[in-house]
Amino acid sequence: MFSVRRAAVSFTQKRAFSASAANPYKVAVLGAAGGIGQPLSLLLKLSPKVTELALYDVRGAPGVAADISHVNTNSVVKGYTPTPENLAEALKGAEVVLIPAGVPRKPGMSRDDLFNTNASIVRDLADATAKANPKAKLCIIANPVNSTVPICAEVYKKHNVYNPATLFGVTTLDVVRASRFISELKSTDPKAEKVTVVGGHSGVTIVPLLSQSNHPDIEGEVRDKLVNRIQFGGDEVVKAKDGAGSATLSMALAGFRMAESLLRAKDGETGVVEPTFVDSPLFKEQGVEFFASNVELGPDGVKKIHGIGDINSYEKGLIDACLVDLKKNIEKGVKFVAENP
Ligand code: NAI
Repeated sequence: MFSVRRAAVSFTQKRAFSASAANPYKVAVLGAAGGIGQPLSLLLKLSPKVTELALYDVRGAPGVAADISHVNTNSVVKGYTPTPENLAEALKGAEVVLIPAGVPRKPGMSRDDLFNTNASIVRDLADATAKANPKAKLCIIANPVNSTVPICAEVYKKHNVYNPATLFGVTTLDVVRASRFISELKSTDPKAEKVTVVGGHSGVTIVPLLSQSNHPDIEGEVRDKLVNRIQFGGDEVVKAKDGAGSATLSMALAGFRMAESLLRAKDGETGVVEPTFVDSPLFKEQGVEFFASNVELGPDGVKKIHGIGDINSYEKGLIDACLVDLKKNIEKGVKFVAENP
């Protein structure tokens, strides 16, 4: 009995040791002192996959880093004040770079209303990443994601380092919300509700495919209300926060899920699938260069972009409406970089 127990203990220790020793991953968060950046950084500190955390912001990153560094997990946390050298240092060697830097919405604003402020913030941070660490997986949280992701692609193209497999718009929150909202409606466990959401990340560009969910029976007015809630769920938070910002805590969870999935795939885990807004062949013929769908992740980023699968005529209508807006949002990002290099 005694010897069996001892054998089990040493097996566990050996596995734990080899897993952490083999895979050191640095993750950088740009905009780390903000509403999303802080809880996102905390979740990353809790992840055994992250060995180094680089926190950069135009204000407050060293304080956030000092605070999070006291959490008793092994990873090293460093905070960086805003100088070009510090930004380069924060980015150097990072496997994943997350960008939640930028202003959030206030009541009555659409994500597109953030364009004027956030476009240049994201352009400059992408420029720094393209120079310091172009191979990092770049995850864009800053809105409007439909435009900020194309902005990053254009910046990377300018530097001749664009690799579509490593650029991601973070749309995870849309499926997190969709599974929660559908579970509320059906009194089920949200973890068991897998809802495919495709398109983009704002208003009508967010297209939930309920016919592929566990509940294809949701029809009529109930369906219309649910689809609207998934498309405009972010507005509920903006309204409730009453001028103090948009989703930060649920977004931190969603951003962390995306980052961790990339690290799991890097570690060789197969079958890691996340919804994300990527350079996608799905609607290029219609002139839409980027599209969110389920994407299988691999060690080098995008491994396989899933198609949208079978959809019904109602969903076809949603996709048609999505493509109109999405095309404009993408073109706006491309034009911005051309006119403001
Ligand atoms: P926040 O205002 O609380 O934080 C933004 C942070 O970015 C601040 O700490 C600010 O100092 C920093 N920052 C600004 N310019 C910077 C620069 N040039 N370099 C580095 N840091 C800079 O905003 P919050 O709530 O964290 O939202 C951030 C962004 O995320 C917004 O654009 C928001 O719309 C977006 N968002 C995206 C979601 C998604 O699903 N993808 C969901 C919710 C919000």
